[in-house]
Order: sequence, then structure tokens, then C-alpha cells
Amino acid sequence: MSIRLGDEAPNFRADTTDGPIDFHEWKSGSWAVLFSHPADFTPVCTTELGRTAGLQDEFSKRNVKTIAVSVDSLDSHNGWAPDIKDVGGVPLNFPIIADPDRTVSMSYDMIHPGEGDSSTVRSVFIIDPTNKVRLTLTYPKSVGRNFDEIIRVIDALQLTDSAPVSTPADWTPGSRVIVAPTMSTADAKARFANVEEVKPYLRWASQP
Ligand code: BEZ
Repeated sequence: MSIRLGDEAPNFRADTTDGPIDFHEWKSGSWAVLFSHPADFTPVCTTELGRTAGLQDEFSKRNVKTIAVSVDSLDSHNGWAPDIKDVGGVPLNFPIIADPDRTVSMSYDMIHPGEGDSSTVRSVFIIDPTNKVRLTLTYPKSVGRNFDEIIRVIDALQLTDSAPVSTPADWTPGSRVIVAPTMSTADAKARFANVEEVKPYLRWASQP
């Protein structure tokens, strides 16, 4: 079954490189990035998990826990971990789920048979502290993900949850935002700095 934005992220129990977990308990109170990779001991995946390990401080600052999954076994994940450190320069510092029976992969619709085989494609789910799915991304097996973009989206989601604003195309933290249509321009001027009405429906403001 496909997962839509706003759905509750399916819960599961699984073995991971950090021990067995109940997913909702493991992420309790935190945001989570759950992402799948096709297979251990493959080049693109090794760079992706290395990059995620290197970004742990950035994720932690934002109250985000990361967790990877593939259909490989726990022994395989544990055997691969030293390569992730060799390539990324940082030891594996987040769990990888072993999903040989495909329970997690199927419940998150991570296996796309048209992509060649029964391994997982490169899915990403950003899940908020209430377990609501807030972003889904699906990349093909041949294309590594941009983890700066994943952090940018987390920043945008956390900002737009905290104030009546949206983020424009190519927004980066600190740049101007768009006032929500539900707010009048007069109210926006009282609340935000540098409000500029370009169209009645497009009002810029400095990032609150
Ligand atoms: C890789 O991680 O390099 C990879 C894995 C599966 C298919 C294609 C590339």
C-alpha cells in the first residue's frame, strides 16, 4: 500500500545494527528520516550511508533520528559497517534495519518490481514527532540522494510548523519566506519584518 503525506507512519518491530526496536518507541518524541537502499556492499549506498553518518550532528540539532533499511541480513549490515566508515570517514552511528522477510519494505512500498529486482529502491520518509509522514521521496537505484536537500526540507517543515509561512522555490534557511494566504497583509506587517506585497496572494517577509 502506498503511503501518503499526512498518513501515520506504519509501526514495526525489527532487528537493527543497534539491536531490536519498535519503530514508534525508538523515535518517540523525535523526527525521523527512514530511508531504504537497494543492497549492502554496493557503491552508491556506501556513499549515502557514509554521508548520513557524517551529518549526525546536523540531524541531532534538529531533533531528527535517522534509520536505514534494506532487505539484507543483520550479519550483512554488520559486515558492511566498516566499509561505511572507511568511505565516509565516520563510524556508522545510526541503525540499519535488517529486513530479509521484507516486512518493513512492503509496509512502506519500498520495493518497485519495475526497477529490476525485489530489493528496495531509494525511498525517503520524513516523519514528525507525532508519527505523521511529512515528506516522501523516491529515487532510482542508480542515483544517490542529496542529503543537504533532506536537511533543507526538515528546516522548512520545522519553520512552517512554527509560523504561518511557506517557503518559496529554492528556499534556503535565512532567506525570505511567503506569508500564509490565511493571514492579512496588515496582520503580516504586525508580525513579520519586511513584508512586501508583490501580488495580493504573494507577500514576502523576512524569515521569522
Ligand atoms: C549502488 O549502491 O551502487 C547500487 C545498488 C543497486 C543498484 C545500482 C547501484
